[in-house]
Amino acid sequence: IKKIFSGVQPTGNLHLGNYLGAIKNFVKLQNEKENECIFCVVDLHAITVKQDPKELKKNIRETAATFIASGIDPNKSIIFNQSMVPAHSEAAWILSCVSRIGWLNRMTQFKEKAGKDKEKASIGLYSYPVLMAADILLYDATHVPVGDDQKQHLELCRDIAQKFNNDFNATDFLKVPEPLIQKEFSRIMSLKDGLKKMSKSDPSDLSRINLTDNSEEILNKIKKAKTDPLPLPSDIKDLNERPEAENLLGIYSSLKNQNLEKSIIEFKGKNFSEFKEKLSETLIETIDPISKEIKKLLNDEGYLDKILLEGSNKANKIASKKIKEIKDLVGF
Ligand code: TYM
Repeated sequence: IKKIFSGVQPTGNLHLGNYLGAIKNFVKLQNEKENECIFCVVDLHAITVKQDPKELKKNIRETAATFIASGIDPNKSIIFNQSMVPAHSEAAWILSCVSRIGWLNRMTQFKEKAGKDKEKASIGLYSYPVLMAADILLYDATHVPVGDDQKQHLELCRDIAQKFNNDFNATDFLKVPEPLIQKEFSRIMSLKDGLKKMSKSDPSDLSRINLTDNSEEILNKIKKAKTDPLPLPSDIKDLNERPEAENLLGIYSSLKNQNLEKSIIEFKGKNFSEFKEKLSETLIETIDPISKEIKKLLNDEGYLDKILLEGSNKANKIASKKIKEIKDLVGF
């Protein structure tokens, strides 16, 4: 059996990139027989940058609601939030003593997120990937579905697991996980700039489709999405140096569960206006029901809190056993 673990930060504005790059895949994996799936709202990761406490609380529930609205079934998968399971913080500390500064210095996401003045970034933002490794390793996860931007963090997680096993003479004790990154469409780009990742923190809301957008907002954002003046290409090679066309066709293909070639055949030589109509229609078909369901679920905070509490109890059973073994090995 595959043991699946993945996490999403409750930092608001969950978007199409999170859905197509990660959450959609979570649902697929959950529905394959035999897989054991754990999906975590990583609230400890969220506070590596400043959060408003009220907003954070709201966003934790909203992320859980997004999981459920997208098709994650709390009866099949464990849904919980990280801060309710103390082993995550404990394991992160121990693993940070195994990790090397040189390894963390190579992390490109830290460099991006910390911006110019790295001295002012939090220690948490710097050691963020170690906490991520703790998340995964506590559950003996075999497979970790993520978008392309998390690849480097998963490689670090594998290095940390191997070094811990070596340092403590515990062959195969921490399981070295496999990243699950889709071959196509694992990096959805901004609607305003085909070279920039679609992101929660982009100041322009027009740069992304939020999972809480309604049909009108989706229509408007696709209408305003950046394109180039040429008609749609008739060959995949002609997408070179047309990042916006490539991204929009990629989004369409991913939503339709078809490869890029097929979409190119469908729209070759057509104008963007015609393609955008089809794209909006397809987006609305997928996103509108999710958006409506998120809003419905958010009206029942008691239900969401109950799901998170029950999930945390289940997660805690697994994680507290593993952290005890880790502490034994360390000599505590
Ligand atoms: P986060 O919250 O930034 O993003 C959640 C998931 O969405 C994917 N993603 C994208 N995929 C395609 N295109 C995009 N534009 C795009 N933007 C985001 C991310 O790759 C991710 O899979 N560090 C993680 C959370 C985490 C985690 C973990 C993941 C914490 N612990 C353990 C796996 C296992 C993060 O910040 O994801």
